[in-house]
Amino acid sequence: MENKIIKNYYNKIAKEYTQEHGYGENLSIQSLEKFASKLPLKARVLDLGCGGGQDSKFLFDRGFDVLGIDISKEMIKLAHKHVPKVNFRLIDIMDLLTTKKFNGIWCSRVFHNISIKEQEKFIKKLKSLLAKNGVLYITSAVSDKKEDYEIYDSNEGINKKYLSSKSFKNLLLKKGFKILKFKYWVGKRGMEILAIK
Ligand SMILES: C[S@@+](CC[C@H](N)C(=O)[O-])C[C@H]1O[C@@H](n2cnc3c(N)ncnc32)[C@H](O)[C@@H]1O
Repeated sequence: MENKIIKNYYNKIAKEYTQEHGYGENLSIQSLEKFASKLPLKARVLDLGCGGGQDSKFLFDRGFDVLGIDISKEMIKLAHKHVPKVNFRLIDIMDLLTTKKFNGIWCSRVFHNISIKEQEKFIKKLKSLLAKNGVLYITSAVSDKKEDYEIYDSNEGINKKYLSSKSFKNLLLKKGFKILKFKYWVGKRGMEILAIK
């Protein structure tokens, strides 16, 4: 049910989001550089929740074998249009199966869409898709309260999830990841983790 709402929301804003945040900002360049520096040559990389494909493009241009996936068909259409050489698929991450595991998973600005009760399952799924010593980059929205919470954003019409830095780190540690780097970004509204399986 929640995924249907998220899918509809991103279908509706795909064009605007891609112009404004996707190709319109260079927020992630430094983090993309860092992530890329941890990967072997020609690594197989998953861009999870790829949106309009701007980060897939960066990674493809670095010579990686990139698969971009998204649950929004409008986002996937835009990604195909912007970066025709990259392989994109319309699929929910929880349904993705692969025989060939990924050396890296790039998960930027997606985690706030995953309900708090599903987050452990989500991280476990990412771990199962990664090869040995695979690298995970993941961002989350930061809680401005003492606890983690979900709240309905009436402007966007979707539920958003906010975590403390402690919960975010613990979630990854609990699932067996080793944290290489933690950093706040976009002021202190967001946080990012680079981790290794
Ligand atoms: C805020 S956008 C971020 C797009 C891009 N990663 C970026 O940083 O600009 C979140 C994207 O995640 C996708 N998404 C949300 N839940 C997903 C899921 N379960 N599986 C695959 N994609 C998902 C949405 O459709 C949307 O395109």
